[in-house]
Amino acid sequence: MTTTGPITAQELYERLKNIKLGASVCQYSLRKCEELVPLVNEINALKKEKNAVILAHSYVSPEIVYGVGDFVGDSYKLAKDAMSTTASIIVFAAVRFMGETAKILNPEKEVLIPSALDGCTLADAIDAATVRKLRQEFPDYTFICYVNTTAEVKAECDVCVTSSNVYKIAQNLPNDKIYFLPDKFMGINLQNEMKRLGAKKEIKYFSGTCYVHEDYGLEEIMKVRLEYPNALVVSHPECSAAVVEHSDYVGSTEQMLAFMRETKANEFLMLTECGLSARLESEFPEKKLVGSCTMCKYMKSNTLENILRVLKNPIARDRVIFSEDVRLRALKSLEAMFHYANLKQ
Ligand code: 13P
Ligand code: SF4
Repeated sequence: MTTTGPITAQELYERLKNIKLGASVCQYSLRKCEELVPLVNEINALKKEKNAVILAHSYVSPEIVYGVGDFVGDSYKLAKDAMSTTASIIVFAAVRFMGETAKILNPEKEVLIPSALDGCTLADAIDAATVRKLRQEFPDYTFICYVNTTAEVKAECDVCVTSSNVYKIAQNLPNDKIYFLPDKFMGINLQNEMKRLGAKKEIKYFSGTCYVHEDYGLEEIMKVRLEYPNALVVSHPECSAAVVEHSDYVGSTEQMLAFMRETKANEFLMLTECGLSARLESEFPEKKLVGSCTMCKYMKSNTLENILRVLKNPIARDRVIFSEDVRLRALKSLEAMFHYANLKQ
């Protein structure tokens, strides 16, 4: 989303001015943009000098998405963008496991992580030793790991999935016995979707949850449906089965945006992280959001200051490094993801 040369505060303001999340929690004035723009331009100049690109998940702060992000999207799109870029340095503004995925796919590139907080409640829910134990307990199951896992966990699984391809991959797998980890809610939603599609799959799942999505409940949906009868409810598959069942559309963050762009409706309750609401407000100002959103502290720990610091002077914790053995085993589960995601059904 960046331009080739330096941008002006007015240009940055044009991209950010429609964002008004939570009344005034997240708003950009021209004055704020005047403060931000020197940092934005310093980062963009340094990217050119160092042959670096910035991959930004839609959940990170809008000044990153609209000021310095070269590729913006959901975890699946960003994994593919990481493979398509010819840059020698990737700064991954998201959560550590997304940067790890980029490194598994591009061992020759330097991958730098600007988030101050390592983690994500899903990626922290399970470790490699637990997966090894589960595999002993369920030897005839195919183990699917959600992309929100560490490289070590991916290395113990058969196939990786993201929220944009989980149902398709589960359907395409030759084995009908599936163990899904670590998200309990996605596991239940996967079970329900397979039943709905008539696919005979026996699905077990682990107990992890995303602390942002597990908080949404039916009450919010019911309240909004009464107050705004024309609003469509759009949710992420990390939400509970009750929320998913009462939603008009369920998909990955990129799929949610595409749905809202394409539908004629112009009022939405969006049950996901605030960064996606900001993208809707900035890119489709004619569409209106109703209800509130929740912030992910891990995604929001990416800042322009941290991006500048890792580009200028990376320290050991900023670099994604793991053993070649882990990388090659994790690569197999990512390659299986691309294979099953691209198969026709
Ligand atoms: P997406 O792949 O849909 O962007 O999801 C990633 C994520 O962390 C959602 O909480
Ligand atoms: Fe993890 Fe939830 Fe944050 Fe996504 S929103 S990165 S799943 S904690």
